[in-house]
Amino acid sequence: MDFRSARKAVLQLLETTAPADVPALLHWMRTTRDFDEFTQDNNDIILKSIATDLRDCLPIEAMLCSEHLALQKIRQQPEPTVHIDAFLYDEDFIDTLCEEGKMSRNYCTVCGSHQTAPLGFISHSFSLMELKFIYHHVLPDLSGKVLVDVGSRLGTVLYGGYLYSSAVQLCGVELSGEFCQLQEMIIKKYQFGDRIKVLHADICTQSSLLQTADIIVMNNVFEYFLPESQQARQGFLCVALVVLELTL
Ligand SMILES: C[S@@+](CC[C@H](N)C(=O)[O-])C[C@H]1O[C@@H](n2cnc3c(N)ncnc32)[C@H](O)[C@@H]1O
Repeated sequence: MDFRSARKAVLQLLETTAPADVPALLHWMRTTRDFDEFTQDNNDIILKSIATDLRDCLPIEAMLCSEHLALQKIRQQPEPTVHIDAFLYDEDFIDTLCEEGKMSRNYCTVCGSHQTAPLGFISHSFSLMELKFIYHHVLPDLSGKVLVDVGSRLGTVLYGGYLYSSAVQLCGVELSGEFCQLQEMIIKKYQFGDRIKVLHADICTQSSLLQTADIIVMNNVFEYFLPESQQARQGFLCVALVVLELTL
C-alpha cells in the first residue's frame, strides 16, 4: 500500500470508530511507543550491528564467570530467574531462540510433569527501545553536556548517547576490566573515540569526574554487583557528590 492509500485507510478507520472513542484513539496514536519499530533509522541499525558484535564475544547469558556476586544474586531470586541482556536480545530474538530450543521462557515446576511457569528475566543493560526513549523523551537537549554512566558494562548508554544525543562527552566507568575491553573494541570499530571515553575504575575513586558531569546515569549499578554494606556506601557517595555539585 502506498502513502496515499495508507493515509486514506487510517482516516476511514477513524471515521468508523465509535465517536466516543475517537479522542482516546487519537491520544494513543500521539503518545504510544507501539510505532517505534516502524521508525528504525540508521542509528538503530548501527546499535543493532553493535549488539551482533557483542553477542559474538559473549556467552548466551552475557555474564562473566568473574561476576560471582551477580550470579549468586540471580540464583537467590525467589523464582527461577535468568539474565537475558535486553540490549543483546530483543523480544523477537528471544522468541527465535526459544523456537530453536536454545532458550526457554518457562521452567518445569514439578519435575517430570507438564506443569510449567514463566521464568523470571532480568537484564543488566537497557534495550535499544529504552535507550531511544531515554535520549529522545526523558533527557533534555544534551548539547555541550557531559554524561557519566556509572557501571557502563557493554557500553550501551554511551553508544546510545553518541548516536541519539549531542552530548559533548560520554564517559563510562566500569569495574570489570573485561567489559572495558569489549567497550574499547566497539569504540574503535565504530570510531566513537572523539566523544566516548571508558575508565576501568571503581566509581568511588572518581569524585572529580562525577563533579564535572551534567548528567549521571545509574542503571541498577550496585544491587547485583556489590554486597549490601558497600551498596549503601557507594550509593551515598554518588548522591552526596551530585548534591554537592548542585549546591556549588
Ligand atoms: C546493571 S549494569 C549497568 C549497565 C549499563 N549502564 C546499562 O544501563 O546498560 C551495572 C554495571 O555496574 C558495574 N559496577 C558495579 N559497581 C561498580 C562500581 N563501584 N564502579 C564501577 N562500576 C561498577 C558492574 O560491573 C556492572 O557491569
